[in-house]
Amino acid sequence: MISEFSLEGVRRTVFGRGSSAKLAQEVELIGGGPALVVVDPNVLAAGAAETALKSLEAAGLKHEVYSAITREPEPAEADAAAEMGKKLGAKVVVGIGGGSALDLAKAAAALINNPGSAVDYVGLDLLKKPAQPSIMVPTTAGTGSEVTFTAVFTRRADKFKGGMNGRLLYPHTALLDPLLTVSCPPYITAVVGMDALTHAMEAYTSLAATPMSEMNSLRAIELIGGNLRQAVTNGENLEARENMLLGSYLAGLALAQAGVGAVHAMAYPLGAFFDIPHGEANSVLLPYVLSFNLIACPDRFADMAYALCEMPENLTTRDAAEVCVEEVMLLSQDIGIPGSLDQLNVPQSEVPAMAAKAMTVARPIANNPRKVSAEDLENIYREAFAG
Ligand SMILES: [Fe+2]
Repeated sequence: MISEFSLEGVRRTVFGRGSSAKLAQEVELIGGGPALVVVDPNVLAAGAAETALKSLEAAGLKHEVYSAITREPEPAEADAAAEMGKKLGAKVVVGIGGGSALDLAKAAAALINNPGSAVDYVGLDLLKKPAQPSIMVPTTAGTGSEVTFTAVFTRRADKFKGGMNGRLLYPHTALLDPLLTVSCPPYITAVVGMDALTHAMEAYTSLAATPMSEMNSLRAIELIGGNLRQAVTNGENLEARENMLLGSYLAGLALAQAGVGAVHAMAYPLGAFFDIPHGEANSVLLPYVLSFNLIACPDRFADMAYALCEMPENLTTRDAAEVCVEEVMLLSQDIGIPGSLDQLNVPQSEVPAMAAKAMTVARPIANNPRKVSAEDLENIYREAFAG
């Protein structure tokens, strides 16, 4: 844990069943319309954005919907959304959906006020002017995108994957309505839930962890460990959905402060080279990276085990730490996460290129609790093939 830290992030959080009906109220609080509303097309089709959009109509707030969003969006999509926002004179940008829609909304809010296109700002703190205030309404639990300063893009033509990052990208408001996550299908619930668990665990073991990120991580692990199976197996279990959304939000707060680690670095090439969704890539890699990291901080792993599941009494720290890894594997199996990279149709011949690429994902590699070399990453990938 670091002994010096600064704290910033999302300014306002509104949580509760049915709270998406308060969208208009929240837009008014930060400047009113016109509002650019970036909505995932599947969410739109499933009707999950209906309550939020109706509240804007009922309040007579001028708004336009941008929904031409692909899975793991291209940077050009953010440029197009920003263009729509500029024409509209948007004072507020709203994102409704999973990580892709929220990232796109954050990027569009920034690009309305900064010249050029999304690719010009891939890196850290490159924006010059504050983004338009934004409201994030997640429909998955989740990416944590509602509270982070990152917008990730994939450019398939040249296998580019990179993110706009920086303090000026923080959303203004996180509007968290568990009812919106009920329509999320079981497999997506499983992989995004494991992504949230990865955020919590990588933040807890990060070399940049802080007292606040630690609290948020452990509570997130507890909530996800106690509710992910239930949310996957019965999507209408509202208590499980509510706890998962809270867990994913807390994990997002932890990652916004402490960063992530080698799982996320290694997931990047899987997305860039083979178009594997972020949550799925992290889900498959998590147990293998945990096994590798364990000896660097067994006490932290023991803490995570006690948060994650019921524990037998009188365990040594090392034994408790091993339970953490075993329990993550069991959770993965229970909720139908693929057990190996083979099952994702990744060619094993690409391991050296993937490891080399992962080593370039600088901050997660630097924050990982165990120092890693390209050779280490190759070994972890190979273990993830063996399953
Ligand atoms: Fe993630």
